[in-house]
Amino acid sequence: MTEVPHWAVPSSRRARPVFDILFLVRSRSSDYISAPEGSGARGPDTGMPETGMPETESLSMIVLGLETSCDETAAALVDEQRRILANVVLSQLADHRPYGGVVPEIAARAHLAHLDRLIREAMDQAGVGFDDIDGVAATGGPGLIGGVIVGVMTAKAIAMARHLPFVAVNHLEAHALTVRLTDDIAFPFLLLLASGGHCQLLMVDGVGQYRRLGTTIDDAVGEAFDKAAKLMGLGYPGGPLLERAAAGGDPTRFDLPRPMKGRPGCDFSFSGLKTAVRHRVADLPEGALHPRDRADLAASFQAAVADTLADRCHRAILAVQAESPPVRNLVIAGGVAANHTLRDRLTRVAVEHGMEFVAPPPALCTDNGAMVAWAGLEHLRLGHQAGFDFAPRPRWPLDPAAAPARGAGVKA
Ligand code: KG4
Ligand code: ZN
Repeated sequence: MTEVPHWAVPSSRRARPVFDILFLVRSRSSDYISAPEGSGARGPDTGMPETGMPETESLSMIVLGLETSCDETAAALVDEQRRILANVVLSQLADHRPYGGVVPEIAARAHLAHLDRLIREAMDQAGVGFDDIDGVAATGGPGLIGGVIVGVMTAKAIAMARHLPFVAVNHLEAHALTVRLTDDIAFPFLLLLASGGHCQLLMVDGVGQYRRLGTTIDDAVGEAFDKAAKLMGLGYPGGPLLERAAAGGDPTRFDLPRPMKGRPGCDFSFSGLKTAVRHRVADLPEGALHPRDRADLAASFQAAVADTLADRCHRAILAVQAESPPVRNLVIAGGVAANHTLRDRLTRVAVEHGMEFVAPPPALCTDNGAMVAWAGLEHLRLGHQAGFDFAPRPRWPLDPAAAPARGAGVKA
């Protein structure tokens, strides 16, 4: 029998213990903090004023989270005991597939068409009404602006109508904090954020407290997967299709570059790897790739990405290993973290350095509402909330003090 993780609550109506209900009395907490005073630590760039929330914290907070920043429309409910009460994700894949990528206008319209229904579905599944909710969180950026506006406006409307606090969540932070929901990981930890729009190594010192150690100077790693998959004729979205195609392939057959490997620092680069894939495809017989060639090329591509990420993580570990308190966990998050070859490789890197490797279950690596609800809950616990004048942010770096990356087309 497989063990059911603590966060998986049956999707049928959630039976709420009487104890829970009794203690839903709103109480004041004393730990409304951001950066410790006088610590010199950088305060969180939460986009939210430190309002304090004397009336909104409870011993069993439940937060509704909305995700609309790209091509998944999602709504979820999460509670303070780290349980996912409902997590509904509607993929817009079919809408975008004919175009070979996400079309922002189509995405925004689809979010608008489906979000209300998904919220209702999530609440029905969780067996909660608006009176049971202690806050509403929505991705406030970074992302495709039309979609972000839909989520933010919906969350604001609910919050305003129900007199609830609203939290504008940084999408990258939602990925970053997911391991605290699934595995209760303590700060600080070293994070490889690997998604469709980003590839960064960060020290996560606390909620809203990030130090960027490295970032991509050109393409994001998910983007590299998507482009390589397209070159191999695999369609969209490339990451999961490429992973499937690589099964049984020979990862040593094609000699692909390991960009940045061995270089000082923790930055990444993927555009050269993509170009190399293009050349290898051009060297193969014209027309659709033979399944064997495709499997070998996909496996070789994954091996190149794994080697590169392993090298960069190794560098980052060396850079932070003398820090106090000690960094015990190497975490990977974001859509690309769903990839098993990469997870296995980074597990080895962590073990070599006496660290634990932690990754959310694959379904919580790709975009979802539970991660947004959880990040919102973490902020609410600290007394952070956003004003109704919060403006969606197409760009929202986790570490605003980090120097801008060098290459063209870099997202944050
Ligand atoms: O985090 P995410 O769902 O959306 C963004 O915030 O970007 O990440 C999407 C990215 C896409 O590029 C997708 O191809 C990639 O994650 N991805 C994968 C896998 N599943 C999703 N890449 C490699 N292997 C996978 N299994
Ligand atoms: Zn994402």
